Amino acid sequence: MQIPREAVEKYEKVILSQLERIEKMKAQGDFTDYKKLDTLIIGVCGGDGIGPMITAEARKILELLLADEIGSGRVEIRTIDGLTIENRAKCNKAIPDDVLGELKKCHVILKGPTTTPRAGDPWPNIESANVAMRKALDLFANVRPVKVPKQNIDWTFFRENTEGGYAVGSQGVSVGDDLAVDFTITTTQGSERIIRLAFEYAKKTGKTHVTAVTKANVIKTTDGKFLNIFKQIAKEYPDIRTDDWYIDIMTAKLVDEKRRTQFQVLVLPNLYGDILTDEAAEFQGGVGTAGSANIGKRYAMFEAIHGSAPRMVEENRAQYADPCSMLRACVMLLEHIGEAEKAKKLASALDYCMFEKPERVITGRPDGATAAQFTEYLTEVINAR
Ligand code: IPM
Ligand code: MG
Repeated sequence: MQIPREAVEKYEKVILSQLERIEKMKAQGDFTDYKKLDTLIIGVCGGDGIGPMITAEARKILELLLADEIGSGRVEIRTIDGLTIENRAKCNKAIPDDVLGELKKCHVILKGPTTTPRAGDPWPNIESANVAMRKALDLFANVRPVKVPKQNIDWTFFRENTEGGYAVGSQGVSVGDDLAVDFTITTTQGSERIIRLAFEYAKKTGKTHVTAVTKANVIKTTDGKFLNIFKQIAKEYPDIRTDDWYIDIMTAKLVDEKRRTQFQVLVLPNLYGDILTDEAAEFQGGVGTAGSANIGKRYAMFEAIHGSAPRMVEENRAQYADPCSMLRACVMLLEHIGEAEKAKKLASALDYCMFEKPERVITGRPDGATAAQFTEYLTEVINAR
C-alpha cells in the first residue's frame, strides 16, 4: 500500500514548522519589564457577539483606575479594529495581517471574545482568532484563577497555550475518505517554560502544592514528556509538594468536596486546561465570572474564558451579558503591568459587588441588571473607597 505523497508532505511540513518554533523558543529573551517603558500601550479589541459590549464596560473601569497614568502619558489605551468575524472572513485569515501588525505595536492586549467558526457555519472554517493570537504572539501561559472562598476553593490553572492539540489543530491530514489524522505536539522548551512558571508562581505567592494533569498513561509520547519534565523541575522546588493526576479522574475530583480543596496550582497541557478550567469556573458562578491571562515573554493578552455567545445577541440579550469575566481579566492585566495596588482595588470592589453586596445581579436576562448598570455600581464602589 502506498502512502499518498500529499499526506507525507503535510506531515513533513508540520514537523518542520515545529522544529523551527523550537529554535525560536531557544532564542527567546526574558519577560518585558514594563516599568522600563516610557509609554505602555494597552490595545483593546472588542471581538464579536457580546464581546464589544462587555469589553467597552471593562475599558471604562481600566480608564478609571489608570486615569493618572493615561493623563501623564505613561499609559496609552488604543483601540484595535478589525478582529471581527466579518473582517476575518473577508480576509480569510484568523487574524488579518494589518490587525496583527497593530497588535504587535502594543505591549498588552485586552481582547473581547471572538467567534470561532466551525464546519457548517456561514463563515469560512478559519482558525480561531484566540488560538492564532496565542501562537502569533507566543502567549505560552494561560493563567486562569478560580476562587470560591466560602468553599475553600482557591485554584490557579497554568494551561499550556501554544502546543498540544492546538499547535496544528487546523493542519490535520485527511487521507482519502476514510482516514483523518490530527497531531498533538509537546516540546521540551514549551513544557519547561509553562511548568517553571507554575512553580515560580507557587513560590512567589506562598503556595505549597503544584499538581500536573495529563493522560500520560495513554498518550504516552507527548503527555509522557510533559509529565517527565514536570517531575524533573519539581526536584528544583523541594519545599513544594507535587503530585500528578490523569485528566479523567481530575474532572471527577473537582466535584469531590473533600478532595478538591487540597489543590492549589495546577499545570496542564492545552486541551486538558481548556476543559478543566470551564468546569472549575462553573463552581465560581459560571464562565461569565472568570478571566484569563495569556502571558508570553514579549506580549500578554487578557480575555474572558468564554466565547462570544451569539445566542445572547440573537435573542436580543447582549446588554445583559456578564462583564465580570472581562473585569477579572483587567485585574490580571493590572497585576501583570506592575499595578498591584490597583489590581487589588478592582478585585476587592468586584468581590463586594458580586458576593458581599450584590445589589445589581447579572442573570443574562432582562430580570437582571445590564452590564452597564453593573459597571456603574462597580464605579460607585471604587470611587467610594
Ligand atoms: C478558551 C476557549 C478557546 C479555546 C476557543 C474559543 C477557541 O474555549 O479560551 O478556553 O479553546 O482555547
Ligand atoms: Mg475553553
